[in-house]
Amino acid sequence: MYKIAIIGGDGTGPEVVKEGLKVLEAASKKVGFSYETADYDFGGERYLRTGEILPDSAVDEMKKFDAIYLGAIGHPDVKPGILEKGILLTLRFALDQYVNLRPVKLYPGVETPLKDKGPADIDYVVVRENTEGLYAGAGGVLKKGTLDEVAVQESINTRKGVERCIRYAFELCRKRNRAKKLTLCGKTNVLTFAFDLWERTFYEVAKEYPDVTPDYAHVDATTMWMVKNPEWFDCIVTDNMFGDIITDLGAMTQGGMGIAAGGNINPDGVSMFEPIGGSAPKYTGMNVINPLAAIGSLQMMLDVLGETKAADLVDKAIAHVTGTKLKSMSAGKMGYSTTEVGDMVAQFVADA
Ligand code: IPM
Ligand code: MN
Repeated sequence: MYKIAIIGGDGTGPEVVKEGLKVLEAASKKVGFSYETADYDFGGERYLRTGEILPDSAVDEMKKFDAIYLGAIGHPDVKPGILEKGILLTLRFALDQYVNLRPVKLYPGVETPLKDKGPADIDYVVVRENTEGLYAGAGGVLKKGTLDEVAVQESINTRKGVERCIRYAFELCRKRNRAKKLTLCGKTNVLTFAFDLWERTFYEVAKEYPDVTPDYAHVDATTMWMVKNPEWFDCIVTDNMFGDIITDLGAMTQGGMGIAAGGNINPDGVSMFEPIGGSAPKYTGMNVINPLAAIGSLQMMLDVLGETKAADLVDKAIAHVTGTKLKSMSAGKMGYSTTEVGDMVAQFVADA
């Protein structure tokens, strides 16, 4: 019996999570596992109502679950940063979800802005370090608001943090069993402290994985190849900030935020699955947002929980719906409503 915490969150978050849960229900019936869910109302509405961002008990409570399924965080009436840092980043850090796993996969029938590229060319995963780097909150400000103001924001990279992320990436690359190539995306020519640590660790760990080819690309070159030659990539591992940036680029090449899934993973703890896209306030409540990114995140949750048969089924169901039904991945242009897309995926799983 899996225990799953549900955080619908803000904007269209609850709508897309609802469709994901439809698919979870269908998959559980089909494959034969059971689960229970518990709802949490963390997000902008609760904050505006009560002034509380995340209750003190939240992190301990989340530790009781097998996984967390999250819709979106971000509210137009709340200053940017408060909810993102107070909910999303707090949970990622406190639950030590040290990998942010983001597949860049072009499903059949999905339009990519990359000329002459198809599903065979765009199919790789980005392993983004998720607890350190520029996100660690190290630094400070002096003489704020004066002409002498000094702002320092440091990138923290620990041997332990870097190594466990790199090791995860090698394991994943081996398990994927494709080209078996892992690219470290860094900036060794300029960030000679941080990426020296990354590079040394990378090639040390690589010795333990003789079946995986280690490869290196600077982050600026990485963005170039992601557009020009995405087929060169199998797995990419990178730090928190670079990973944040390149996965938005990756998301656009796979059809946009409507389809880009992600997971914040602690392989020894509680992982949290969330679509990469935001809360899309202007589409809230209109039943037009694409739920496939959330359904894809649910698919990743099933995989991490060990329900690989269910995960494969949901993956096939998504491919079926993109390949034969949806006109576009964009909100309002799919040719179907949010709930209809969820129904079609769930139906495919049930009929499989
Ligand atoms: C993401 C988002 C977050 C991040 C923000 C909302 C804090 O952009 O999940 O990529 O920067 O990690
Ligand atoms: Mn981002």
